[in-house]
Amino acid sequence: VKIRNRHSDVVQTMAQGVLELKDSHEIDLHTENSIQYFLDRFYMSRIGIRMLINQHTLLFGDHINNNNHHQHIGCIDPYCDVISVVKDAYENARFLCDQYYLTSPELEICKSIDADDEPIKIVYVPSHLYHILFELFKNSMRATVEHHKTDILPPLQVTIVKGKEDVCVKVSDQGGGIPRSLSERMFHYMYSTAPQPSKSDAHTVPLAGYGYGLPISRLYARYLHGDLVLLPCDGFGTEAIIYLKALSNEANELLPIYNKMSTRFYKITDHTIDWRSTCNHTPISQQQFTQTQ
Ligand SMILES: Nc1ncnc2c1ncn2[C@@H]1O[C@H](COP(=O)(O)OP(=O)(O)OP(=O)(O)O)[C@@H](O)[C@H]1O
Ligand SMILES: [Mg+2]
Repeated sequence: VKIRNRHSDVVQTMAQGVLELKDSHEIDLHTENSIQYFLDRFYMSRIGIRMLINQHTLLFGDHINNNNHHQHIGCIDPYCDVISVVKDAYENARFLCDQYYLTSPELEICKSIDADDEPIKIVYVPSHLYHILFELFKNSMRATVEHHKTDILPPLQVTIVKGKEDVCVKVSDQGGGIPRSLSERMFHYMYSTAPQPSKSDAHTVPLAGYGYGLPISRLYARYLHGDLVLLPCDGFGTEAIIYLKALSNEANELLPIYNKMSTRFYKITDHTIDWRSTCNHTPISQQQFTQTQ
């Protein structure tokens, strides 16, 4: 418990550090890729460690018989009701959005039942799913309010479907999307179009600003072999799809390992240019090419 508390504001501290680096240094592409690679692995380890601590303290700690969560096994809910997590995350994001903009888009559930007309339930860690949805809703709300600038806001639409392999949760907004040339950057730790939250307001929750929402949400999804994909449509809106494993035996923990490959990643600085564009003669490297695929 002490370890967990001691490290509770690591994400915020690291985010502040990266912002300070950005302010004081010119960051080249290689350094940016290295920071991205390091932080992805660092935060994935952190998710794994905290999952273990939470699981242990919940199973063996003082609050074993928590009546609200009687069906949970530690922090895992064998019957995690996806729609109720969606509603919970929406309401809390909406509260923040109302505080900032004095308005917020409605929620429209397009589909949330399985083939037997039952609400979709999965074995999952509800707090992880909540985290991802809360970040997506905050982004969609901000984009919708800023894009429309009127009282009539198009609703956020959520579709939940369960297939043989995947459970997909799709969040669609009409917040104007983002150009394709920038969409790669949405998952960069240093990328945010929101003003930086002020250091003196460290205890108030910002709606946006650190550029950590999407990359960390994707790690939560990938931690149990799911994924998070964003499909922006420039000038219209964005669709975000959370992929989760429908079968719990496939939802294994994914953790980084430290080996020669990871050391080498930081050392390769020279990515040879092997593509050429005929329209503007801007060569792109194989690495950039594969990144955009
Ligand atoms: N639904 C969306 N529509 C349009 N732009 C979006 C959407 N979601 C994300 N973005 C863009 O991607 C950027 C990065 O999003 P991300 O959630 O990672 O960081 P942030 O919202 O700026 O800050 P925070 O760390 O507080 O979430 C945003 O600043 C915004 O420009
Ligand atoms: Mg965000």
